[in-house]
Amino acid sequence: FDAVDIIRTKRDRAELSEEQIDWVIDAYTRGAVGDEQMSALAMAILLNGMGSREIARWTRAMIASGERMDFSSLSRPTADKHSTGGVGDKITLPLAPLVAVFGVAVPQLSGRGLGHTGGTLDKLESIPGWRASLSNEEIIAQLEDIGAVICAAGSGLAPADKKLYALRDTTGTVESIPLIASSIMSKKIAEGTGALVLDVKVGSGAFMKDLDSARQLARTMVELGTDAGVATSALLTDMSVPLGLTAGNALEVREAVEVLAGGGPADVVELTVALAREMLTAAGVPDVDPAAALVDGRAMDVWRRMIAAQGGDPDAALPQARETEVLRAETDGVLCRLDAYGVGVAAWRLGAGRARKEDAVQAGAGVEIHVKPGETVTAGQPLLTLHTDEPERFGRALEVLRDAVTVQGAGAGETGSGDASA
Ligand code: URA
Repeated sequence: FDAVDIIRTKRDRAELSEEQIDWVIDAYTRGAVGDEQMSALAMAILLNGMGSREIARWTRAMIASGERMDFSSLSRPTADKHSTGGVGDKITLPLAPLVAVFGVAVPQLSGRGLGHTGGTLDKLESIPGWRASLSNEEIIAQLEDIGAVICAAGSGLAPADKKLYALRDTTGTVESIPLIASSIMSKKIAEGTGALVLDVKVGSGAFMKDLDSARQLARTMVELGTDAGVATSALLTDMSVPLGLTAGNALEVREAVEVLAGGGPADVVELTVALAREMLTAAGVPDVDPAAALVDGRAMDVWRRMIAAQGGDPDAALPQARETEVLRAETDGVLCRLDAYGVGVAAWRLGAGRARKEDAVQAGAGVEIHVKPGETVTAGQPLLTLHTDEPERFGRALEVLRDAVTVQGAGAGETGSGDASA
């Protein structure tokens, strides 16, 4: 095979053969096809799409590029959740222990944040002592013993995707349904979970900004999972407003712990319980009441054991940023918009996220939300609190937050937002 022929095939809107797909993924993983050729092919795929047979084969080839985990030795069924990413999305933290309460093992192999969306591992690393890296043997032992693991996906799972995702990130080729679906599903199928629930986000803070494309992404992924023998389902959930009242690493852990203690913001509780129900049903445990296990402490017990098993101290104080600044409402009115993308970018600029893969994140940085859309505000009332260790970051974060907030004044029309004063 010749990489240039394969690029031309897709450029000219023809279908790639199974042999072409197997060859190009394998050759790229080995380094025999260069980044420049793969980025041309990724752009041709982004522009011209792939049919369902091509997507299935592409996914299979990416799975075959690495190892597959095997949970068949466990005495419990397995279920996992994948979110396509959003702002303030800390759901994995309460969800994994909650599902484990009911005897289903949750192997939540997670990633770090890149860009405006946070990463589950970055959040948990704000807990003193907590360790993201586990061996396959440790993962299996913890799943059998405690029932929940949140840890880093080993480098052996779908290495073709690891390379391709980094390339797409720097070549404007992330936003392609075939490439996103195959990327996510190759990792989840290689991970070996028996059931999978996809939380496909829709709205400004998500990859998919409109319902039609989110639905198409969900359908594509459910078909890939089902064909691979994984009981797969999907929920489409809103990501036009941040989830909960925090975006940032330690801030989100604090909120997750509130949910595990039976409190926390209603939207976070509602989504956690909805996804838990879906996972439990897919794993063969229907007709249980996950909400009760948040209230009576059973989910908190599993959380504490899960954190301690990975070296973390569930009782340790969480890191706090050294500096804060408050964004206040300029006028009386109703908060009618709090844009998820803007809040995500602000948290990132405050130091909660990274610009390059090798950057460190600040555990305490982020945005705390005091008012959600639909609530009334009075002039001078705090809308958001910004947290960072480096006060020089406030300016650029406030810039984007002023545009992310709209207060509709009583008869006075819309105003941008508020006035920032410390
Ligand atoms: N998450 C992934 O793992 N891959 C994508 O392509 C997009 C989001």
